Amino acid sequence: MKSLSYLNKYFFKYKWRFLLGIVFIVISNYFGVKMPKYVGDATDQLLKNTSINTTSEIIFLALKIGGLYVLYSVLSGFFLFLTRQAIIVMSRLIEFDLKNEIYAHYQRLDYSFYKKNATGDLMNRISEDVSQVRMYLGPGIMYSINLVALFFLVIFQMIDLNAWLTLFVLIPLPIMSFLIYKVSSKMNSLSTDVQKEQSLLSTIAQETFAGIRVVKAYSREKETHEKFNASSLNYKKKNMRLVLVNSLFMPTIVFLIGVSTITAIYIGGLLAYDEKISVGGILAFIMFVNKLTWPFASLGWVTSINQRAAASQKRINEFLQIQPEIVNKNQDSFELKGDIEFNNVSYTYPNSGIVALNNLNFKIKEGETFAIIGRTGSGKSTIVNILMRQFDPTNGSITVNGTDLKSLNLDEYRNQTGVVPQEVFLFSDTIAENIRFGRNDDVQPEEIKEAARKAHVLHNIEAFPDQFETILGERGVNLSGGQKQRVSIARALIRKPKLLVLDDCLSAVDTETEEIILSNLQQDTKSRTTVIVSHRISSIRNASNIIVLDHGKVIEQGSHDELMAQNGLYTDMYHKQLAEEK
Ligand SMILES: Nc1ncnc2c1ncn2[C@@H]1O[C@H](COP(=O)(O)OP(=O)(O)OP(=O)(O)O)[C@@H](O)[C@H]1O
Ligand SMILES: [Mg+2]
Repeated sequence: MKSLSYLNKYFFKYKWRFLLGIVFIVISNYFGVKMPKYVGDATDQLLKNTSINTTSEIIFLALKIGGLYVLYSVLSGFFLFLTRQAIIVMSRLIEFDLKNEIYAHYQRLDYSFYKKNATGDLMNRISEDVSQVRMYLGPGIMYSINLVALFFLVIFQMIDLNAWLTLFVLIPLPIMSFLIYKVSSKMNSLSTDVQKEQSLLSTIAQETFAGIRVVKAYSREKETHEKFNASSLNYKKKNMRLVLVNSLFMPTIVFLIGVSTITAIYIGGLLAYDEKISVGGILAFIMFVNKLTWPFASLGWVTSINQRAAASQKRINEFLQIQPEIVNKNQDSFELKGDIEFNNVSYTYPNSGIVALNNLNFKIKEGETFAIIGRTGSGKSTIVNILMRQFDPTNGSITVNGTDLKSLNLDEYRNQTGVVPQEVFLFSDTIAENIRFGRNDDVQPEEIKEAARKAHVLHNIEAFPDQFETILGERGVNLSGGQKQRVSIARALIRKPKLLVLDDCLSAVDTETEEIILSNLQQDTKSRTTVIVSHRISSIRNASNIIVLDHGKVIEQGSHDELMAQNGLYTDMYHKQLAEEK
């Protein structure tokens, strides 16, 4: 339950709403418990003076009691409405805040966090777990306060009528709370099972539909259906169990209400026989007991939803407590000029222990085109990630304009760079929006067009009926691999970056297109430093400085001609690629 104390700051934020809610609960219950006493007294009045009761007197009494009943019910109901407006609305407001808090925290966390945690888990914290916590903030709190308020309002009236009877009728109530708690807990654990099975089922379906072309091409429809069917069967089984326990819930309550009522009538009857309580008193008692049963039942239910909420909040707290390893400590603005130096940089992936970079030393000069070439898995993308400070090197340091990258204003640094990652990611939005994403200020349509032209994708876009308004993604147009890469290049170019980093982003275009794009890029190299990563020599041969990477080490370095003269791995790759082209 300790984990829930995290939410206290939110109760504090909405303190007035919360306090008002408590006041409304008390008022609502105050009107709610006035009736039994009146009904009891009126009954006694009728029974005692049978001889003097005229019909009109009886009608008057009945009208008075009936009128009061309606009045108090309306008042009690009205304040119950206000209670829910205060407390349930508060819970929804906190739910909104909490979701935003978690989301904002997610965005602060770095790449390594996303590597460690599955997307499904992240989604669950923000949807499923927050919903569970909301149950504690709303109904959980409301019914708890309700029980306390009602108990104190009723108990003195009951003791006043008869202390012994009070004791007897109250005995079944805690037992009922306990039973309801047991049933609710079972229901909760079963519905968790059902939810798990359901998300498994959706994952299977989603994966099949996303990969439908592979499924059909290998004609594996039957097998995928069997897989779906097996999971669906499990889902059904678990749901049946839940239904069974669910159907115990109401009968348990009704049974125990019955026991309390019978106790009240039986013991009350015995006491009335000894004239220790009136018949009207018994009637009032039964009404009190009926008022108390649901709140006592809710105690069991509330305990179990609170436990569930505590478990959810614990999971949320675990995420909220994670601090990003990459933090921006500096708010000073600076101008990026290039001049980036790697000093003895090594990197080992923590999860796999793979030494991806091994003691790298090189310098990227301002305004130059710097290239990194190497076989697959040699560590090129790792360099790009470190350069963008997605993660920090295990050893060594990177300096930018002579300052350690770790102490630079990271936002400014990233704002002045444009990266085209190796794995293209485009949003399910229009092409224009995808390109505009590269900028956070106002962008004119001409600028988008110009960026697309430079990335040599304009003619493709203009061939679509909706041109720049063409929707990409699942329900939109599918771009070819090379088109996607070029839209992603346009997104980087529209930033007008001081440092442009291209991670193997021309791999899916032919050499002719590649040449056009490279020559377009060449046009504004004066104001820009460019880092090109590739495993194709044609992409990088014009770079002023090339490093050849092998197993995370720089094994050769120089311009194309210098490297050719060295007659090493670079020359070897060159000849092989030339032969392939021919
Ligand atoms: N997230 C990761 N976790 C663990 N190991 C990784 C991770 N990413 C890369 N590696 C490993 O680090 C090494 C270098 O990978 P990297 O992606 O930098 O190669 P690359 O030169 O970009 O290859 P390619 O040309 O295929 O893109 C590889 O052995 C790879 O398996
Ligand atoms: Mg790579």
